[in-house]
Amino acid sequence: TTKAIILVGGDTRGTRFRPLSLDVPKPLFPIAGKPLLAHIIESLSELPSLKEIFLIGFYEESIFKDFLSEIKRSYPNIIIKYLREYKAMGTAGGLFHFRDEIKRNSPDNFFVIHADIICNFPFKEILEFYNDKNNYYNDLDCKTVIMGISKLPQNNEKSAENFGTIVSDLDDKVVHYVEKPESKVSNLINGGIYLFDSKYIINKIAKQKLKKEVLSNDDYHAEFVDSDVVSLEHDILSNLPDDESFFVYKTKSYWRQVKNPGSALIANELRLQDAYQKQKSFKTIPSSSNIIQPVFIDPSTVVSKTAKIGPFVSIGPNTFIADGVRIKNSIILDGVNVKPNACILNSIISNNSTIGKWARIEGTKIHVDDLLTYIEQNGVKFNKACILSSDSHVNDDIYVKNCVVLPNKSIKSDVKYEVVM
Ligand code: GTP
Repeated sequence: TTKAIILVGGDTRGTRFRPLSLDVPKPLFPIAGKPLLAHIIESLSELPSLKEIFLIGFYEESIFKDFLSEIKRSYPNIIIKYLREYKAMGTAGGLFHFRDEIKRNSPDNFFVIHADIICNFPFKEILEFYNDKNNYYNDLDCKTVIMGISKLPQNNEKSAENFGTIVSDLDDKVVHYVEKPESKVSNLINGGIYLFDSKYIINKIAKQKLKKEVLSNDDYHAEFVDSDVVSLEHDILSNLPDDESFFVYKTKSYWRQVKNPGSALIANELRLQDAYQKQKSFKTIPSSSNIIQPVFIDPSTVVSKTAKIGPFVSIGPNTFIADGVRIKNSIILDGVNVKPNACILNSIISNNSTIGKWARIEGTKIHVDDLLTYIEQNGVKFNKACILSSDSHVNDDIYVKNCVVLPNKSIKSDVKYEVVM
């Protein structure tokens, strides 16, 4: 059997996702109409050998309570639990801390998944790849598989330092792993999904922890070494190639990390496109001439027949879209009221906001292959996405361009390139 661990992080981590993380913790932020976590869990649920999914993080328990009870109803045959770290333990520290829980029922292997990615989640293929390496090649022993992304958006020197990079041989064996290298090492980057042999990896982390404990007992290092904190990417992966049991499953699928609001818009675009191509039955109102697919509209939302929506728009529940409204490349969350003839482009509008008549909320279009989600204006960086936090109220006829509006603000005059607080 196999298990899955989703690393959800915690409050202090979501800072780049502000102000959106003030309203919704990042793993629960809706992309194409569903929380990020729900996309991962849905794909995992298709694995027949998977019986348990653990979310590991350091958010308060209450954060995931409603989400968990809802998702458990959708997948009654899978145990889904939140395991809370008492502090941030790094991407491997929690795996060690909860090792008894992970090793219970002796799973052969387990997946580890970063909660902040959107891709086609090829869990089945990774599991098959792992089994094939072990079953069909007598001379190979596979204990770790990492998902490698070979088609990086704007794959250039500049972006190499943002990722973990992988060098592999002809058998897809990893010969070299470097986390966030100073210069470009390879075109293959860490996609944030791993499959580990259970005993093997827990032992590896234990050894690394021991090394750190020794250091933390020595007066000189004690101050900056915390042996509870272990990073998979920094402390563990770079040592694995020595064991010759570390392989990379390469994919050219779409892939995006959701790090900041701009990347949420791209993730939304990619996921909507994927769902539309597969014609997955994501609930959307019947196609009308004013809907330019792909679009997700919650069934509880009312959209005027004269509003023009799409492409790449997701609209959450209990929202009202009036006559003559135009929305494109945007995410509208719950309970939003968009009044007649308002226009929303390249923006994220959070819960319970109101957009006045003829108001225009506009960000800069981000190309799917573009990693730069900021633009510079007079030497200051601004989000390309225009972001309204919860309970924002924009008056009639107002123009809001490339702004970040913090919660509970009323916008009564035009604003451009500003943080409204
Ligand atoms: P940077 O944030 O730029 O360093 O990018 P990264 O992709 O290397 O991200 P990072 O390693 O911070 O996080 C990867 C995933 O692990 C995310 O889903 C985080 O929420 C999660 N994560 C990060 N740190 C921790 C931690 O201490 N505990 C747990 N449980 N999860 C974590």
